[in-house]
Amino acid sequence: MRAVAVNAFGEQPQLMELPQPEPGPGEVLVRLAAAGVNPVDWKLADGAFGDAVKASFPLVLGTDGAGEVLAVGTGVRRFTVGDAVFGQFQRAEQGGGSYCELALADEDRIAHAARSVTYATSAAVPTAGMTAYNLIEETRTGEGKWVLIVGATGGVGTFATQLAAGRGAEVIATARPEMAELMRNLGASETVDHTAGPVADQVLAAHPDGVDVLIDMISGPAEFAGMTRTVRDGGTAVSLIGSADADDLTERNLRGFNFINRPSPQLLEILAGHLDAGRLTVLVGSEVPLTSAPEAIAASRTGRARGKTVLTM
Ligand SMILES: NC(=O)c1ccc[n+]([C@@H]2O[C@H](COP(=O)([O-])OP(=O)(O)OC[C@H]3O[C@@H](n4cnc5c(N)ncnc54)[C@H](OP(=O)(O)O)[C@@H]3O)[C@@H](O)[C@H]2O)c1
Repeated sequence: MRAVAVNAFGEQPQLMELPQPEPGPGEVLVRLAAAGVNPVDWKLADGAFGDAVKASFPLVLGTDGAGEVLAVGTGVRRFTVGDAVFGQFQRAEQGGGSYCELALADEDRIAHAARSVTYATSAAVPTAGMTAYNLIEETRTGEGKWVLIVGATGGVGTFATQLAAGRGAEVIATARPEMAELMRNLGASETVDHTAGPVADQVLAAHPDGVDVLIDMISGPAEFAGMTRTVRDGGTAVSLIGSADADDLTERNLRGFNFINRPSPQLLEILAGHLDAGRLTVLVGSEVPLTSAPEAIAASRTGRARGKTVLTM
């Protein structure tokens, strides 16, 4: 089967022919129709997580995918051959990922796909959608709260904006002018142009008392510390890229933390339900063939994603 993989951390991803995997106990073999691209895909292939991640090579890239169950291993109870599923397929220790035609998933990393959307749409959801859902829960973003989302136009941000607005929060979304209308359509109350000057100054000019919650997926440690000026006394500030200094934030009477995603099959089911109920819009920016994965990764590295990129098999 065809796969896009690396032979060592830091190598250029390339198209390879790899043997078809066989499902072991608790594993599901899926004929993937589509794989979603996330920044974590190239971070993992770069070796950015160091000793925290054990990998075997060739290492197939990619986490998110959607497709049809081809076979199940012993003990699998939730799925049967022919089921439409979506979820997370990254198994670095075994060399597995989602940028391939046939992928194994642990049973508890996938769920039945939404019935009303294509595999390409489902494949765009798992990592960014679960991250956004957990973020909104863990920051207790809800009715009447003002939340500033930095990086709002990306995969996580577009889901977080919708989920926060759906709970009655007022979202201030960073967006270039050409993205402002789209973000309002997704539920943002206001947008702030991150290319027009410091975001914190712009937000404080409009909201001198500050926001209740800051969700920041972009800023490095120094910029994040500056961004937390926008958070009111007693508010919450979270970084997705490890930039929060919890002790410093506690001293300033802010609740701050570095977010780590906790995926679960229940969360995937909730997201599939939102998709079928029409409560969640998935912005698929481009669908390209698996062979274009190296270009898709290069585009993701620029940090200028326009909606989710999906690889189709
Ligand atoms: N901790 C976790 O568990 C976890 C989970 C998921 C993701 N993440 C991380 O979160 C980050 C975002 O992920 P993603 O999938 O949403 O990325 P993405 O889809 O690649 O989106 C990046 C977005 O950031 C915007 N952006 C770039 N520079 C900006 C700036 N200075 N100010 C405001 N917006 C800016 C871009 O818009 P423009 O091009 O218009 O600037 C683009 O829309 C990644 O680093 C990812 O690895 C962490």
